[in-house]
Amino acid sequence: MSEHRLDPSLVTGDPLVDEQHRAIHQLLDDILTADDRPDELMRVLERLMDHVDGHFLTEEDLMRRSGYDVALAEPHIADHRRFADTARTAVLDFRAGTLTTMQPLVDLLRDWLTSHVDEYDRALIGFVRAQAITADRPADQACIQPH
Ligand SMILES: [Fe+2]
Ligand SMILES: [Fe+2]
Repeated sequence: MSEHRLDPSLVTGDPLVDEQHRAIHQLLDDILTADDRPDELMRVLERLMDHVDGHFLTEEDLMRRSGYDVALAEPHIADHRRFADTARTAVLDFRAGTLTTMQPLVDLLRDWLTSHVDEYDRALIGFVRAQAITADRPADQACIQPH
């Protein structure tokens, strides 16, 4: 399995946030590798959901700790929910046997992540870095190791 490298255009400058983005991209690659092995694919999808949930908690904690403007935080959080709902629906469809190929889902989630970083994450990380605040791994996600 090749190690995923984060495209430089996706780097935000916060070490943990960048590590989490890299891990999510790696898991999206792993979904395609596991596409013909249902048990492995299910494990990767569940791991993706854990990472995504942990990552969103990390960023939403940064918003709280930095006093991020609610007008900026609300659409950012709503976009997180859209991503999580899309991924969660895909897991349910896969379990139900109605989703048979992963490529469209992976393409959709990769594109989402790229535009989300551009549209929302970069502004948030720029704001928190100006206050010398860095991301912490959420306590209940401490068991999730970088992939
Ligand atoms: Fe975000
Ligand atoms: Fe993010």
